[in-house]
Formats: sequence, structure tokens, C-alpha cells
Amino acid sequence: MKTTLAFSTPAELETEALVAVVLDHAGKDPIEKNVSGNGKSGSAKKEKPELKLATSDTAVQSVAADLLASGELTGRSFESNLLHKPAGLKAKRLLLISGGGAKKFTGYDLRRIAGAAVRTLKAREIRSFAFIAPPSIPAEEAVRAIVEGALVGNFDPDYYRSDRKDQKIDALTIVAGGNADHAALEKAAQEAQVIGESQNFTRDLVNEPSNRMTPTLLAERAKKMSQEVGLKCEVYGADKIKELKMGAFWGVAQGSDEPPALIVMTYEPAGAPAKPVLGLVGKGITFDTGGISIKPADGMEKMKYDMAGGATMIGAMRAIALLKPKVKVIGIVCATENMPSGKAQKPGDVQIAMSGKSIEIINTDAEGRLVLADGLYYARQLGCTHLVDAATLTGAVVVALGYANVGVFANDDAIYERLHKANEEAGEKMWRLPLDDEYKENIKSTIADIVNSGGRWGGAINAAMFLKEFAEDTPWIHLDIAGTAWMEDQKPWIAKGPSGVALRSLVEFVKGFAN
Ligand code: BES
Ligand code: MN
Ligand code: ZN
Repeated sequence: MKTTLAFSTPAELETEALVAVVLDHAGKDPIEKNVSGNGKSGSAKKEKPELKLATSDTAVQSVAADLLASGELTGRSFESNLLHKPAGLKAKRLLLISGGGAKKFTGYDLRRIAGAAVRTLKAREIRSFAFIAPPSIPAEEAVRAIVEGALVGNFDPDYYRSDRKDQKIDALTIVAGGNADHAALEKAAQEAQVIGESQNFTRDLVNEPSNRMTPTLLAERAKKMSQEVGLKCEVYGADKIKELKMGAFWGVAQGSDEPPALIVMTYEPAGAPAKPVLGLVGKGITFDTGGISIKPADGMEKMKYDMAGGATMIGAMRAIALLKPKVKVIGIVCATENMPSGKAQKPGDVQIAMSGKSIEIINTDAEGRLVLADGLYYARQLGCTHLVDAATLTGAVVVALGYANVGVFANDDAIYERLHKANEEAGEKMWRLPLDDEYKENIKSTIADIVNSGGRWGGAINAAMFLKEFAEDTPWIHLDIAGTAWMEDQKPWIAKGPSGVALRSLVEFVKGFAN
């Protein structure tokens, strides 16, 4: 999808479809009013929406005026109407999409509205359109949100369907506010383009099934991407993993006939200071059967996405290499299958991690933390001063936070604050969970230093406590993306399937160190 900026009045724009956002200026958010759930709307009087277009263009306003005043619309988010041959506009169609309450409308919502516009129009065989940036959001932020949101909406996962209609939008024009700095907006659009494309690159990797995305193939994709964007990329196999004494990583990899891959991508821009060195470590389990502690058949097919953390780091490295922030970054992906076999590790086995810590394997299905233990330690060995890992680590984080928020853990408040700022700018939702010393009890072992499974209660925390043992005193963030890396259902703004979550926040996080 090509993106261009236009600074003309929307009415003058020749396009297949012009998209305008509808906002509700009544006191309350219509969503709040409508979630009573019991059918009774309670004592709160049903307030009429006061719908207005988010544009100052009077020609566009007048086309929509009758519809908005008709009382037929609820103004709820994603409500859309398509008008053909809008009188007085050069556009062939006018698409109105509601963004909900005007007071609550942010860049986060705008991303989704842009995605919804793409998904509405692409299904109608429309290949290009123009989107009016709502003036209530600062112009640069709006441009970013529209480009990123549109790219997210443009992705569909039906790769292997014979009837795949590759209904991609080819061209997006953003009609930006009048007195904004054009150069700054162009830069924002270009950066957003890189970030959105990198997010879709990650989704491409996650979408592939495990027979087409083995550790070797994942490493090849990382290599190819690295060559294209000018990153150094090394890929190591079983010999190196054993030579480095990555006993935790190898404990998982030993059970599979597919060779593992330790992928190391290095970004060292000229002029970057020696420190900090950021380490992005991803869980790359290309298929998680559970191993000897095998998972039930029901839903196991989804475990092809267990490399989403790794794919996120590969995509983030792509974006970083193209955006060129002046800070050193190392991306590490520990890729392997988790399989049962005659060679597989068994419950009760003890593995010695690269750091020297001994681990009693209670459950072979708690494999993500094992590969990450060595990945995090290795990142520190390579000189990383700050660490972030991303992993589809636990079912428990889905119990805790559902599908809406990434679970965040940190051993340092300052690094957490940086991430929090980054995820707000990137329009992603994340929620911090605790790592108190009390939880350390849960990972004590009688035979070794720690166990790999701390039981059911606080399962996401126990997993993070385990990782913390390997981050030690290096400032570290752990992102548990088990609930958010895969959309269980399609939404107006995004297809069912891989979401590419956390990539945008990671890129913002890295950029934050360059300033
Ligand atoms: N890859 C899974 C986590 C997962 C589960 C992601 C469900 C998405 C949906 C991870 O390797 C795993 O199996 N975790 C176990 C840990 C347990 C054995 C301590 C889990 O969450 O059940
Ligand atoms: Mn598992
Ligand atoms: Zn797993």
C-alpha cells in the first residue's frame, strides 16, 4: 500500500472513496450508555447522539448532514455508511465511519477506524481511497495512526485458499490538516509505513503453519530480511547451542528432529554511543506440542503461533534497521519445536542453563521460559544493558488479562516507564503484573535451583519470576503476548489470525533511547 499526503480541501479530491470520521458530541460516550446488559437501560436517560463529521470541510459536512440528523444512527464505534456520488464532492463515494464519543476519541481509536475503513472498502473491490485526518488529533499523531491502522487492516491470512482474493488496498491518500508542517507529516507517514509494514511482516511469519515455518525456515526469513535492510544476522545450530552450554534451550530442542536455530541480528549504527545496548529476545517455538507433558488435541493447531514473540523481534529489527535510530540493538530469537520423542526431555530431568543455574523440569510444556532463560543470559553476555523479551508464554496471562492487554513484567521501574510511554504512543494496550519476592517460593526446587513450572495460581507471574532469574540485575521487561498475538475472531479493523502486537511499542521503546 502506497501512502501519500494531500493538503487540498477534501471536497476537491478525486478518489474512489473519501472517508470521514463521525464523532458523537453528546455528553456521554454512547458505548457507556448501552452496556447495561440486563436490557433495562436503568435510570440514565437515553441521550441522543449529536453526530458531527470530524472535518471542517463544509461541502463534505453538507453531504452527510441529513443522514447525521436523521436519528437513524447510533454513533457507536465502527457504524458505517457508504454514500455514492456525493453531491458537491469530486470523490466517487463518501464513507462515514463512527469513532464513538468525541471526548474519548484518541489515536488508539483512529488506528482502528482507519483499519475498519480499509476492511470495508477492500471487500468492495475498491483499491484506493482517501482518509480525512480528524482535526481533534494532532496532525502528526493522526497521520501515524491512519497509516499504521490502514496497514493493519490490509492484512488477510488466507494464504493457502485456492480462492484467495488478494483484495489489498493499493493506495491511501491522507488529507491532512491545513497549517501543519508538511515535512514533519511526510516523515511521520514514512515512519508509520515502515512500522506498519514490519508489523505485517511479523504477521506473515506467524501465520505460516509449522510445516512451513520450521526453525530453519524462520532463520532463513530473518537472514533474507536482514540482507535487505542491512542488518548483520548470524544463525547458529545445535553445535553452537551446546558449545555455549545453553542447557535449557537444548533441553527443549533435543526432542525434535527439526534442528533448532539461534538467530542473532545486530544493529550497530554509525555514531551510536557504546551504551546502551538494547537486547530484544523472542520465544521462537515454531510448534508447541507440550513435549512429553503433551497438550490435549483440542486447539493444539493454534500452537503454530508459539513463535510470535520471535517473529515480533524479527519484525521490530526490520523496522529499526530502516528507521535508523542512533542506538545499538541486538535481536535474539531462540527457535525450536517442542516435541515428544525418544530423545525428548522428561519431567524430573535437570538441565543446567547457560548461566549455570540448575532447573528441574516439572512440566515439559513450560518450554518457552527455558529457551528464553538462555536467550536472556546470552544477550547479557553479548553486552546488552537493557533487555526486553516477548513470548506467548502462558495460558495464565489469558486468564488474568483476556485478549485485550499484553501482560507486562519488569524488574525495574525506570525501564517500565519507558515501555509504558512507548505503548501509549504506539496505541497498544499493556498491563503491568507484579513480580514480588513472595512468588519466588513457587519456583523453588528440592533437587535443583529452580523448577520450570510454579503451578497454576499466578501462572503468568511464576513464569516471569523464572525469567527474572536470568535477567538478574539487568533492567528487563517481559511481555507475555499469549492472549494478544492471535485474534480469535475478526474485528472491524483486523482479520482473525496473527495480530503483530507489541512490535509498534518495541520500536517506539527503542526510539526512546535514541533521543
Ligand atoms: N505456549 C504455551 C502458552 C500458551 C498457552 C499460549 C495457551 C497460548 C495459549 C506455553 O508454552 C505453555 O504451554 N505454557 C503452559 C505452562 C504450564 C505448563 C506451567 C501453560 O500456560 O499452560
Ligand atoms: Mn508449552
Ligand atoms: Zn509454548
